[in-house]
Amino acid sequence: MKKKILIIIGVILFLSLFLLFFLYFKNDEDDLNYEDKFKDNGYSPSEVTIILDKVPKDSYDYILNLGYDKSLIDILSSSNYDENKFNDYIEYYLKNKKSNINDIITIVNSGYDLMSYPASSLLASLVQEKYYINENVARYLDYGNSHNQDSKKIIGVVNSKADLGFYSNIYDSNLNDNNLILVNKFYHLKEDYTPSDLVTLSGQYNRGANNKMREEAASAFMKMVDAARLENIIIYNMSAFRSYDYQVNLYDKYIKRDGKEAADKYSARPGYSEHQSGLCSDLNEISDSFEGTDEAIWLKNNAYKYGFILRFPKGKEDITGYKYEPWHYRYVGLEAAKIIYEDDITLEEYYAYYIENTSD
Ligand code: DAL
Ligand code: ZN
Repeated sequence: MKKKILIIIGVILFLSLFLLFFLYFKNDEDDLNYEDKFKDNGYSPSEVTIILDKVPKDSYDYILNLGYDKSLIDILSSSNYDENKFNDYIEYYLKNKKSNINDIITIVNSGYDLMSYPASSLLASLVQEKYYINENVARYLDYGNSHNQDSKKIIGVVNSKADLGFYSNIYDSNLNDNNLILVNKFYHLKEDYTPSDLVTLSGQYNRGANNKMREEAASAFMKMVDAARLENIIIYNMSAFRSYDYQVNLYDKYIKRDGKEAADKYSARPGYSEHQSGLCSDLNEISDSFEGTDEAIWLKNNAYKYGFILRFPKGKEDITGYKYEPWHYRYVGLEAAKIIYEDDITLEEYYAYYIENTSD
C-alpha cells in the first residue's frame, strides 16, 4: 500500500517536472519566434528586447499587426509605464497618434476613463492635480482652452462653479455644514436667518459695532487674539455678524457710491454675505493698507492654527468673486483651516472637493 502511494507521488512529481520543462522551453521557443517576427517588422535587437520584456505575451500578435512604430518603444521605455495598462495605452495612443507620449501615459495612469477626450498637455496636467474631480473634466477643458490659467486655477474656478458665472446658479446654504457652511455668490442664507448661538465680543477683542460671533468661532477668535498679543500683535474685531437687513443697507450704500458692477467686487448682496453666518470677522483695518502690516502678516501665517482662514486671498478673485480682503477672516475649524492653508486653496475649493464631491 505504502509502495503504491510512493509510486503515485513519484509519477505526479515526474509529470509536473516534465510539464514545467515543457512550458519553459516552449516559452523560450515562442519568444525566439516572436523575436524574429518583431525584427522582420523593423524593430532593432534592443527594441525587441524591450518589447519581449514589457509587452504582455497575449498582445504580441496585436503588436505585430500594427507594424513598426517607434512610439510603442517610447511608451514601453517610459519610467511611468505600467504593464497592466498596456491595452489602454495602445488604445489611447492609436486615437491620439500626434500627442505627446508622456501625456498619454499620464492620462491613462490617472485611472479615469478619458478615452473619449483628446490627449493634451492640459488634460495631463489637470489629472495630476489633487482637487481634480472627474465629472467636471469637460468644463475644465472648456475653461482651460479659453483662459490662459494654470491647471490648479482652472480646477478651482470650475469646482467652485465660477466658470458658470457668479450669481448664475443659486442654492440655499446648507445649515448642517455648520462651521463649513458656504455663503458666497452661489450659496445664500435666508432673509430671516440668524445663528442661534451668537455671543458678544468685548474688551480687548472688539472695537466695532457688529460685535457678535457664533460661540465656537468666538472662543477660537479670543484664543487667537490672546496668542497674537503674546507676540505684541494686537488684533481686534471691527465687524463680525451682520444681519440680512444690515447688509441691505450696506450694499445699497455701495451701489449708490460706486455702481453695482464695482460694488459686487467687494460687497456681498444681502443673503450672500458670510457675515450673516456669524463665522467671520473683519479685523483691525478694513482697508487695502492693512496688507503688509505686522498684524496682517501674523494673521496670514498663523490664523489657521486657530481654525481661521483668509477668506478672499489675492490671486483667487476668479474663484471667490471678490477682490483681495486682507482683513476678512473666516472660522472653519482646525482641520479644514489647516488643509486650506497648506494647500493654498479657498473655502470654495475645499467645499467643492471635500463636502460636495460625492464621487470620491
Ligand atoms: N466684503 C464681503 C465680501 C461681504 O460683503 O460679505
Ligand atoms: Zn468681511
